This record gives sequence, C-alpha cells and structure tokens, in this order.
Amino acid sequence: MNIDTSPNITSRNRPAKQQGVAISVRGLSKSFDGAPVLRGLSFEIAPGEIFVIMGPSGAGKTVLLNHLIGLLEPDHGEVRINGMSPTSRNLHDKIRMAMVFQNSGLLNSLSVEENVSLYLTEHRLKPWQQIRQIVREQLEHLNLSRADAAKYPFELSGGMKKRVAIARAIVMEPRVILYDEPTAELDPVMARTVVNEIRRARALLSQTSVLVTHDRELAFEIADRIAILLDGSLLKIGTPAEIKSYQSSERKEDAALRNFLTANYKNNETKSDYE
Ligand SMILES: Nc1ncnc2c1ncn2[C@@H]1O[C@H](COP(=O)(O)OP(=O)(O)O)[C@@H](O)[C@H]1O
Ligand SMILES: [Mg+2]
Repeated sequence: MNIDTSPNITSRNRPAKQQGVAISVRGLSKSFDGAPVLRGLSFEIAPGEIFVIMGPSGAGKTVLLNHLIGLLEPDHGEVRINGMSPTSRNLHDKIRMAMVFQNSGLLNSLSVEENVSLYLTEHRLKPWQQIRQIVREQLEHLNLSRADAAKYPFELSGGMKKRVAIARAIVMEPRVILYDEPTAELDPVMARTVVNEIRRARALLSQTSVLVTHDRELAFEIADRIAILLDGSLLKIGTPAEIKSYQSSERKEDAALRNFLTANYKNNETKSDYE
C-alpha cells in the first residue's frame, strides 16, 4: 500500500513522546428501556493499537464507542482508559481523546476551516498563522481543497463531511481516537485516502485507535486486531488472519461467525436512527 508519510502538522510540532494509552472494558452491559444492547463485553486494547470493532447494523457498535468516550455510562461493568473512567473530568484533563461521529457532527454555523481549527483556536494551542497552515495541510491530506475549506457543512456531501470530521479529530493530536464508520458514504478512492490518513496519523502520533465498521475489507486491511460484535456480544477477537480463518470453518460453534464473515449483506450503515 502507498502510505503518504510526508511531513505535515504533526512533524513540525510533534508532541513529546508520551506514555501510550490502554483501554480496558470489563463486563460492560447496557439496556435501553429494558432491551439489552450490550451484553457483558470484556476486552483490552493495547497502547498504539488499531482495534477494529466489526459487526452488522444494529449490533451495538456506536453504543459501545459512546461508552469508550464517556457519553454513555454502563448499567453494569466498567470502562477504563489508563485506569480512569471516561466520564471523569480528570481523565479528559490528562488524556486528549477525539471521536469521529457516525454523522460527522460538524457545527453548521462554521465553515470547514473553522470547524477543523476550532479546538486549536479555542485552546490557544498554537499561533494563529500556524493553526491555519496545519488545518490547510490536514485538509489536503484528506483531498479537500482550499475552495472546500471555505464551504459550510450544508454545501458538503456526506462523504466530504466525514473527511472534514476526520481532519478535525486528527489536528487535535489526540492520544486516543475513535472512528465511527469512517469510510461509510465514501467511494473506493476516497475510502483509500481515509485509510492512508488513519494509518499516517497513527504512525506519527502512536495514538490508540478504535475503529467501528461494518466493512469487512476495511477491517481486514487496517486492523491490528478485530473484535466481532453480533447482537451485543463479542463473538471473537483476533488478528485479521485469525478472524479470516473462520470464513472456512466447518465447526458448528463457528456458524454465526462464519455466516457474518461470508454473508453478502447490503450496506445500510450510512443512516442511523440515533444520529
Ligand atoms: N439512545 C438510545 N435509546 C434507545 N435505543 C437505542 C439508543 N441508542 C441505540 N439504541 C439501540 O441500540 C441498538 C444498537 O444501536 P447502535 O449502537 O447504533 O448500532 P450500530 O451497531 O449500527 O452502531 C439498536 O437496536 C438501537 O435501536
Ligand atoms: Mg452505528
């Protein structure tokens, strides 16, 4: 694969090497109105890992990500980010986390450039001229032009919004980055751009990356490890090669996993009832 490692924002002002961030989930359960959505999930994500959570629509992937960043609290069990709860202020003061939402979550009243630079300007992290340069270079990495930078969210396609949201997350130089369906609504060429960018960001920042997708090809290509989530339960966790090997498993107990890995299901992930 052709990975672009040309210098940009992060190489110019690269943060000092920091301790990596580990994520631990133990016995996580969540129901809505009595209906279980997550059923006692336990797994560990290693510092710097690209961990992919793969499952069909409605499996509970977005609900799980929302727990990792502290937008939802478990009914039972716990999530720990380097030992801290994601709902604690203490954690977010110490560890910068960013999330690319399934619906992108851009601010409609701000231009693309303003959306992407907002975090850096609000926190006065860098001089204004430098922020501008960082943002432009980051947008270029995601194939967004100067003309696109001046546009407002209502002028963008779903796929463009997604790429802006990814740019916005990466310029924050987070130590944990959560991507919810980063390639949904993208054509294959743009999906490739996004894959390269996710990898480039990880190579530069060594951030712990959690990626949610229903896209098997994406998962097999980018993951260090893949967790298969079906109907709120983790069916299997393994390297892409380990997970792929179940495609041809004839064991009865692997039937659900094999069916998921080989099913010719339709991409209906681009819309969520909860966006
Ligand atoms: N805020 C909510 N209130 C009630 N039900 C919800 C809520 N959020 C998600 N759900 C339900 O949880 C299940 C999993 O949703 P979600 O995590 O969005 O799935 P996906 O794997 O497609 O991201 C779905 O059945 C959905 O209806
Ligand atoms: Mg979802």
